[in-house]
Amino acid sequence: MSHTVNRQWVLAARPEGPVKRSDFLLIETPLRLLAEGEFRIQILFLSVAAVMRNYMLNTEKFERPLALGDLMHGRGVGRIVESRNTQWRVGEIVHGKMGWQDYAIADGSAYYLMFKVKQRVVPISTALGVLGLTGFTAYLGLVDIGGVKAGDRVLVSGAGGGVGSNVGQISRNLGAEAIGIAGSEEKCTLLINRLGYSGAINYRTESISSRIAALCPEGIDVFFDNVGGETLDAGLEHLRRHGRVVLCGAISQYINGVEQPYALRNAFSIFKKMARMEAFFIYEMSAHFERAEAQMSDWIATGQLVYQEDILEGLELMPEALIRLFAGQNIGKQLVRIIPNS
Ligand SMILES: NC(=O)c1ccc[n+]([C@@H]2O[C@H](COP(=O)([O-])OP(=O)(O)OC[C@H]3O[C@@H](n4cnc5c(N)ncnc54)[C@H](OP(=O)(O)O)[C@@H]3O)[C@@H](O)[C@H]2O)c1
Repeated sequence: MSHTVNRQWVLAARPEGPVKRSDFLLIETPLRLLAEGEFRIQILFLSVAAVMRNYMLNTEKFERPLALGDLMHGRGVGRIVESRNTQWRVGEIVHGKMGWQDYAIADGSAYYLMFKVKQRVVPISTALGVLGLTGFTAYLGLVDIGGVKAGDRVLVSGAGGGVGSNVGQISRNLGAEAIGIAGSEEKCTLLINRLGYSGAINYRTESISSRIAALCPEGIDVFFDNVGGETLDAGLEHLRRHGRVVLCGAISQYINGVEQPYALRNAFSIFKKMARMEAFFIYEMSAHFERAEAQMSDWIATGQLVYQEDILEGLELMPEALIRLFAGQNIGKQLVRIIPNS
């Protein structure tokens, strides 16, 4: 081990409104010795996800609570550089919970939700995107929760983001047709030209409801919703008989939805259309990751699935990366490269 110092982003303040740089503090700590069973990972890439704002407020019960001054939670991919655990060997590449820092310590227990990265031709970063929990969320959400089938009309919100950039392509590969909702012309063009969508709606300049009616006159079979609030409401209005609504996320509600929850006007449509609305959390679906990874890998190999990554350079930019998600600046999966040329 040549390095003795670890840079770490810790929580400096609970966010009020959108996250800002002053909510975080970059500190340096000495690397500690490993205990028996532990291994040390040098982090190559870190993932950024909207749920991290909830971690900062301790409103997600599936993650350990954060006190002010604690290391920010987050998933990463990295190389094992030191090990006192025979199951996890020096040189192996792994992805799992690592935190916003240069070096992480794990012990292989279930908490870390850690997996070895198989030898592959795609970049290591994909272990946090298309071939990691982001891609599995898209695949398992659409297939297992949404029950998508050939001929279905699929509507996807947050379509140009990490999860959404996969859902249109998966739909197409399974014989369904997807319409994506996103927040810029640039993203809408990309949805159609690269990301497998047959139509796009810019929610900042168009009425979502009128555009759904124009693009899917017979309604939608599966609504994969990442946004919640008014967007969810607009989709509910256009459900077909026996439609399925996949509640993947609700980013429009993360900031003030807890205090001022959006009241759905079209909830009755679920009853009228004998539809089903179901939320899921990807951490609870780990038994199915291997199946999702195998299918996504096959599609990448045959050119039927492209991955869209948005990479910032350097650990210093972790706060900026998270801020970008809430500002809609990211296109595809938002990542931060920690080691140059990884
Ligand atoms: N259920 C699960 O287990 C699970 C797992 C992973 C992620 N998720 C959820 O999936 C969703 C996408 O996550 P991700 O990490 O892939 O993020 P992402 O889609 O890459 O980034 C978030 C995107 O949401 C859009 N957005 C931000 N604020 C918005 C608002 N107020 N109204 C409408 N759109 C807004 C922005 O795109 P625009 O340009 O389109 O505005 C932004 O790029 C999130 O809701 C997340 O919580 C759920």
